[in-house]
Amino acid sequence: MKNIQRLIKTCFFVLSFVFIGCKPSTKIKGGVVSAMPYASEVGVKILKAGGNAYDAMVATNFALAVVYPVAGNITGGGFFVYRNADGSSGTLDYREQAPEKAFKDLYLDEVGNVIPKKSIVGGLAVGVPGTVAGTIEIHKKLGTLPLSMLIQPAIDLAENGYAVTEKQVSSLNGYREVFIEVNGPDTFYAKDFKAGDIIKNPALAKVLREIATNGIEGFNSGWVAEAVVSGVQTSGCILTQKDLVNYKPKWRDPLTFFYKDLKVISMGLPSSGGICLNQMMKMIEPYNIKDMGHNTQKSIQLMVEAEKRSYADRSEFLGDPDFVQVPLNILLDSVYIKKKMSGFDWTKATPSSEIKPGDSYYFESDETTHFSILDDHGNAVSVTTTLNGAYGSKVFIDEIGVFMNNEMDDFSSKPGVPNMFGLIGNLANAIEPKKRMLSSMTPTIVEKKGELYLILGSPGGSTIITSVFQTILNVYEHNFPIQKSVNASRFHHQWLPDSITFEPNKFDPRLLQNLKNIGYNAEEKKSKIIGKVDAILVNDGIITLGADYRGDDTAVAY
Ligand code: GLY
Repeated sequence: MKNIQRLIKTCFFVLSFVFIGCKPSTKIKGGVVSAMPYASEVGVKILKAGGNAYDAMVATNFALAVVYPVAGNITGGGFFVYRNADGSSGTLDYREQAPEKAFKDLYLDEVGNVIPKKSIVGGLAVGVPGTVAGTIEIHKKLGTLPLSMLIQPAIDLAENGYAVTEKQVSSLNGYREVFIEVNGPDTFYAKDFKAGDIIKNPALAKVLREIATNGIEGFNSGWVAEAVVSGVQTSGCILTQKDLVNYKPKWRDPLTFFYKDLKVISMGLPSSGGICLNQMMKMIEPYNIKDMGHNTQKSIQLMVEAEKRSYADRSEFLGDPDFVQVPLNILLDSVYIKKKMSGFDWTKATPSSEIKPGDSYYFESDETTHFSILDDHGNAVSVTTTLNGAYGSKVFIDEIGVFMNNEMDDFSSKPGVPNMFGLIGNLANAIEPKKRMLSSMTPTIVEKKGELYLILGSPGGSTIITSVFQTILNVYEHNFPIQKSVNASRFHHQWLPDSITFEPNKFDPRLLQNLKNIGYNAEEKKSKIIGKVDAILVNDGIITLGADYRGDDTAVAY
């Protein structure tokens, strides 16, 4: 009963902030927008305690690992894009990588066929996690408060519990059978949950305490590392403790480009996000999309044709830059980009079969999570992190209270053979020891006329890039307020299959019919949620926050 009362109080507390957060107000100094109210609240608590956006990032990330097990994590990886108040910016790549014992044909049988599910479910799907190393690296370089203080709220949530939401219950219950199949009937999440149930995770609290005390060694050595390695090896993994110890996050230059008077600061390889965003925005720049109107036939045609051309390149050329030569100077060249759009015809769809990379159906998991943070100094953080599939490989390690990722499926197991979401990859993204698998995560920060303008990102596998693309245009070209921009209906094309996926029941059937009439395959049936964008807008000094209505996402301002 006490717990329920506490929960109701917490909800009121959070909602009051959400309400304020969605209204333009000069009083707002900053805030956090994440997939869960508890996590956003933790981040703001740190900001109010004098921490900066980077401190809040660390706290929010660990809180998500507790209250959002579908994608929040300490055993996955991610990308961090930041912009300091003085305008300097950078990115950290803490993407998972292939274990040292991995090899190109890891998921093939003796006759060279891909073994179904091998890269998706179970221990062999697990990549070397980067989240703890990445988060600690961010803290070391940019944080101001003690690590232990930033992890404590997550420890409290794991120990005292949090109330599961309706949406979480339907997700957890939907996967229960697989959890049991992989981990046995007594596994932690085998329970039949109801909304409002309090989930406590003392095993995870113990691990978090270890990290709070010992930093990265609290994760990659001692009993935690032993539990990770033995937990995955039991289910067939090749991960070793040496892999954990050798894992290093990498500071990389951001992928930046200009669109009209905007400067877009996004993630470069091994994410495809920034590159595809760059290509797509440059492809549409010569057209007056503002005058076409939001989600009209013309604006959809233009954006779809840009999307399919960019995703075609993605399938062929992109991979970990430390392992493959990616011809970025060509892919981002203005003449090349103009030429790619030269076949675009308003009167008929360009079939994907006529679009060749260079002159895929890439569909990853939609279970990733994004959060955006702004502090009162003006420091901005954009983070997308993932276990890949929902609850990753479904391997749950009781001793440490977490699911392990299945990020290995983001590699191309065999050229031309689609992965679990239909991805066709190439040798650029083939498995090699210590190589990082290609990603679509697109944490992004946008400047307008040199000032901070927009912080955003999304989960949604391959739809991440198109969700970010459309949201930037909603704000900048269509002048939508931030909440309307993140909620706006979305559509997606990724070259192969050659169809536009529309969010169901959101688009006028006559519009879809008109597109079909000129050769587009317009798919509503198979579509579900496309992205969940969490964003912060700073427009003429006024800060507004937008939390996507598609999830439990919550904006907390301060
Ligand atoms: N696993 C989703 C991504 O990295 O794009």
